[in-house]
Amino acid sequence: MNGKTVLVTGGAGFLGSHFVRRALAGGAALVVNFDKLSYAGDVRRLDDVSGDPRYRFVQGDVASEPEVAAAVDAHRPQVVVHYAAETHVTRSESAPELFHRTNVEGTRILLEACAAGGVERFVHISTDEVYGPIRQGAFAEEDKPEGEGSATSPYARSKALADDLARAFAGRLPVVVVRPTNAFGSHQFPEKAFPRWIVRALRGQPLPVWGDGMYVRQWLNAVDFAEAVALAAEAGEPGSVYNVGPRHDPEITNIALARWLVASLGLPDDRIVMTAYDRPGHDRRYCVDATRILGLGWRPGDVWEQLAATVAWYRDNASWWEPHLAVAESIYVDAAAK
Ligand SMILES: NC(=O)c1ccc[n+]([C@@H]2O[C@H](COP(=O)([O-])OP(=O)(O)OC[C@H]3O[C@@H](n4cnc5c(N)ncnc54)[C@H](O)[C@@H]3O)[C@@H](O)[C@H]2O)c1
Repeated sequence: MNGKTVLVTGGAGFLGSHFVRRALAGGAALVVNFDKLSYAGDVRRLDDVSGDPRYRFVQGDVASEPEVAAAVDAHRPQVVVHYAAETHVTRSESAPELFHRTNVEGTRILLEACAAGGVERFVHISTDEVYGPIRQGAFAEEDKPEGEGSATSPYARSKALADDLARAFAGRLPVVVVRPTNAFGSHQFPEKAFPRWIVRALRGQPLPVWGDGMYVRQWLNAVDFAEAVALAAEAGEPGSVYNVGPRHDPEITNIALARWLVASLGLPDDRIVMTAYDRPGHDRRYCVDATRILGLGWRPGDVWEQLAATVAWYRDNASWWEPHLAVAESIYVDAAAK
């Protein structure tokens, strides 16, 4: 990305903002952050770099053809990294059309504009949820079926279709697809499970753990993920897909993570409440094989140190997350834990 113009969609979001910072640090000539500023977008995530003359913010909607075309024409980016999406599974259950519009239509519109604009590298941010759940073993990149396949929620299904679209453009545009696992780190919207638990613990509230808590995810640090995306942008093979997720031994269940969290804050175990509520079709376990991105030199850090650093960040930055609490909590029906 050194010396290049990089357009990041969804750069005011959690993972996109970490990548904007990484692109600036990596010597980009200009980083254009194209973001609609949905409820999840917050430019305060980039307060530390917003004064950099190489940074520009453009408010725009990826599902609006004229807005996307205007941004591509105005900045002529060489590299485009597409994070923008509706991302919350619970929200997708009640608003599937919005998820289709942004995640599928928005991706198609952006791909068309980038192909027409001669973009040199397009990195599409997909998700491990496009594979659906897996009881044992790990999915390789080739294991994604065409279409919605085994993806369960409206969120996952929209991302599965967007992933197909991105790969279908490979003949017209040098596309690389990355499929990250469950991410965590600073500045994550407090509607997502881990930051929600942290802020509830800090505020003296119970921590709701859904079902039996035996759900398994590959917890991926946001800074490690930004490194993986930079690698994919610089050294990824056009037309290829890269799974990105660390393997943990033992694997981390939700209940193990919640117990670790309360212990790390010196709180009693009974702050954890197992709720009768569970997500409809809650996927038991996701697992991807990241051999391919490891082959490009990607090395994730120590997950427990990174989780501890994340807890410390939320403890020290209440002024960032407090304004988001009402919107974050408004979607939850696990009322027993309120
Ligand atoms: N967070 C995770 O654990 C995770 C895991 C796997 C994949 N992903 C993928 O990574 C990407 C980023 O996720 P995140 O957690 O940072 O999301 P986020 O919800 O924190 O941020 C999404 C950003 O996209 C913007 N946006 C929404 N609709 C838009 C539109 N129509 N046009 C332009 N901008 C729009 C929002 O304003 C926001 O800034 C998404 O594509 C998501 O599917 C996330």
